[in-house]
Amino acid sequence: MRPFLIAPSILSADFARLGSDVDAVLDAGADVVHFDVMDNHYVPNLTVGPMICQALRDYGITADIDVHLMVKPVDRIIPDFAKAGASIITFHPEASEHIDRSLQVIKESGCKAGLVFNPATPLHYLDHVMDKLDVILLMSVNPGFGGQSFIPSTLDKLRQVRQRIDESGFDIRLQVDGGVKVDNIADIAKAGADMFVAGSAIFNQPDYKAVIDDMRSELAS
Ligand code: DX5
Ligand code: ZN
Repeated sequence: MRPFLIAPSILSADFARLGSDVDAVLDAGADVVHFDVMDNHYVPNLTVGPMICQALRDYGITADIDVHLMVKPVDRIIPDFAKAGASIITFHPEASEHIDRSLQVIKESGCKAGLVFNPATPLHYLDHVMDKLDVILLMSVNPGFGGQSFIPSTLDKLRQVRQRIDESGFDIRLQVDGGVKVDNIADIAKAGADMFVAGSAIFNQPDYKAVIDDMRSELAS
């Protein structure tokens, strides 16, 4: 398995000083910036769009920005995020009319591409697109809000996806998002995840480095 990546979710950051808060979490040892895009249509919440992604780039953020699209429709916003500096773009397959096309639009825009599975979304959406995926993201909460509890059935789903990735031979990251904390990250890694999104667990603590260090020592255990 490749090195574990920790991706703080900006959903729990301080939006009034987003640039410096993202800078701080990267200085504290985070690997990737997880950028949650919600449209008050596909999910019952409203967050940020390409302008804010561009603002982070203009501020000087150079780390990969992992754009998690919780929007419907999917395709028309993809080029805007690519232009605004996204590195990875993931979307929920049931929000796209044409999943293969959406993946191609992401790839053609120069970004890495991934599919996101809600807790009850079946894995059959993987069937014909494994060769087009850089990331598979399993939601361990229902999307829309930070600070929810990890849904335990995600562990079994992670094991199933880990097996599919390993059998496929493709180079695909297995990401988990929702309720990831210091005290469950080791079990989540054992189930097969190698990329961990954490919002409230990191941003709700005063010392980001202490949390990220604790997560890394759990991952090494
Ligand atoms: C939920 C978002 C998550 C969220 C995770 O829809 O996709 O990225 O910010 O927050 P925590 O880590 O607090 O569960
Ligand atoms: Zn997310």
